[in-house]
Amino acid sequence: MPRGPARPFSVAPMMDWTDRHYRRFVRGLTRRALLYTEMVTAAAVLHGDRERLLGFDEVEHPVAVQLGGDDPAALAEAARAAVAWGYDEVNLNVGCPSDRVQRGRFGACLMAHPEVVAEAVRALRQAVAVPVTVKHRLGIDDLDGDAHLHGFVAALVDAGVDRVVVHARKAWLEGLSPKENRTVPPLQHERVVALKRAFPGLRVETNGGVRDLDAVRAHLRTVDGVMVGRAAYEDSFVLAGVDAAVFGEEARPSRAEAVAAYLPYVEARRCAGTPLPPLVKPLIGLARGARGGRSWRRTLSEGSVRPGAGPELIERALAALPDEVRDARPDAAAAATPVGATADGVGSRASRSARPPTA
Ligand SMILES: Cc1cc2nc3c(=O)[nH]c(=O)nc-3n(C[C@H](O)[C@H](O)[C@H](O)COP(=O)(O)O)c2cc1C
Repeated sequence: MPRGPARPFSVAPMMDWTDRHYRRFVRGLTRRALLYTEMVTAAAVLHGDRERLLGFDEVEHPVAVQLGGDDPAALAEAARAAVAWGYDEVNLNVGCPSDRVQRGRFGACLMAHPEVVAEAVRALRQAVAVPVTVKHRLGIDDLDGDAHLHGFVAALVDAGVDRVVVHARKAWLEGLSPKENRTVPPLQHERVVALKRAFPGLRVETNGGVRDLDAVRAHLRTVDGVMVGRAAYEDSFVLAGVDAAVFGEEARPSRAEAVAAYLPYVEARRCAGTPLPPLVKPLIGLARGARGGRSWRRTLSEGSVRPGAGPELIERALAALPDEVRDARPDAAAAATPVGATADGVGSRASRSARPPTA
């Protein structure tokens, strides 16, 4: 039995983006999405400043820590520390293609070593009582066929993985930068659907290139969950519709309400000595594509680095937005037929209709 509830919607782990300030802000837009930390290596958790690496605010729940590493014992110890800190889930990064990560033999290069990942999953499952999940790619380099992918996932299932999240493209470890590896290899969501069909009892989530809630709802007809990365940061107001469209809840917060929920946190962190720019950064994508969005962005990014700037900068930028942008709510029609979560929050439409195993 998988541990934990299904997670029909999550915001992807993103280095330098999904820090605790961003996650705190996002809670003003969606209460139900699962949030992830940036990747933190097991070694950093074991030897580094845990408050800086793991600290988070209670309102961020549900929140998963993403770990990087290939040493099962170190991963297990780091996971124990993270769960003691209050994290709801532990995710292992097997998708990140950066050079720095490859040298330590973790991230996407581990797709070539299913036995190592399986051993890590076993150690994590033994170490903690919360769900243990893996985020991986469709393949790497020439190991990019379904035979390899399904063998890799079979090893994870055997080790007791609770869910997998598949970034629906392969990674080229030689020759492409991490950024290019998020755009150049083509998306193949249909292969994630085939994976779900091959492993009907496994919760399978898809990730990559999903920019709006219509696309989320379409994917939820065939897989158990959708993870959204760049759109959730660059165009964060898309998250205001998630609780209604995916979870069938009433909440459809406006930009003004989301900012109001975040401001007390900004004030508290300023008093504790946090500089203004990292606190303002999560707000910058909130008015993307809306009237007044460019000046919102400029006011915040230029204003936050001026000497003496404080939280009133955010209030000023908000007041300058046109009323209909400031107070707009996500489309109510999206909430009419929620897809994904059942009433108890467990089991998506994909799980309920999953075909029996064929093998
Ligand atoms: C700035 C940035 C940082 C990222 N950092 C991580 C990371 O720490 N761990 C990880 O598994 N994926 C990371 N990713 C990949 C995303 O989690 C996601 O898989 C990818 O962006 C595809 O989803 P999207 O098209 O919705 O953005 C990062 C992506 C971006 C844009």
